[in-house]
Amino acid sequence: MIGIIGGTGVYEITEHGQDIKKKIIETPYGNSPEISLFKFQEKDIAFIPRHASDHDYPPHMINYRANLWALKKIGVTQILATNAVGSLKESIAPGDFVIPHDFLDFTKMRPGTFYDERTVHIDITSPYCSHLRSVLISSGKVVDQGVYVCTEGPRFETAAEIKMFQILGGTLVGMTGIPEVILSRELEMCYSSICLVSNYAASISPYKLTIDEVFEIMDKRKNNLVDLIESTIKS
Ligand code: HPA
Repeated sequence: MIGIIGGTGVYEITEHGQDIKKKIIETPYGNSPEISLFKFQEKDIAFIPRHASDHDYPPHMINYRANLWALKKIGVTQILATNAVGSLKESIAPGDFVIPHDFLDFTKMRPGTFYDERTVHIDITSPYCSHLRSVLISSGKVVDQGVYVCTEGPRFETAAEIKMFQILGGTLVGMTGIPEVILSRELEMCYSSICLVSNYAASISPYKLTIDEVFEIMDKRKNNLVDLIESTIKS
């Protein structure tokens, strides 16, 4: 089964799906948001809205463990996640899609593992799924790599932080990619993110950054994002 984690601006994706069923899954971390289960091109798909459809949890309050545990429990083996991000590079513009190959973790207070009771150190040298990444890249409509910097949020960044992230080799900055990719690896699910650039990061853009800008681009590019997801599922 393929899991789709919908980020900001992507709350439903079942338009072309058949046999749609809705399910809330119980996990040791609490109930999941309502998951849509459906068939698309003969494949079983599970869609989960990351921020939950009825609550709007901000990035640092999302129950990442419940979301990932629920997907594993219903049989998901591969995950396509969507993430709104700011660009740290002038060459990558609002509206572009980027498929990250690595991350830098600047989160501070999120439960980031399922292994609280015993010591387990997973290998995460290459955190993102090479198979899903190559299918996405073969669409020819994406920037084929990038380093995703995850901040705690919910505030945007200072100019000095953005400069630091650039010096460290970051490509994109967002608030939701971690710990999702790590938890997926812990549960042995193959995870790839489709990052949609909604803005130039603070201080790169001459304008003050607002969430309206983020929503506007997500709205404009949502159909292209859904096309990209559907063509990836087909292949
Ligand atoms: N910074 C952090 N998270 C984001 C941004 C940003 O500029 N844009 C969308 N999510």
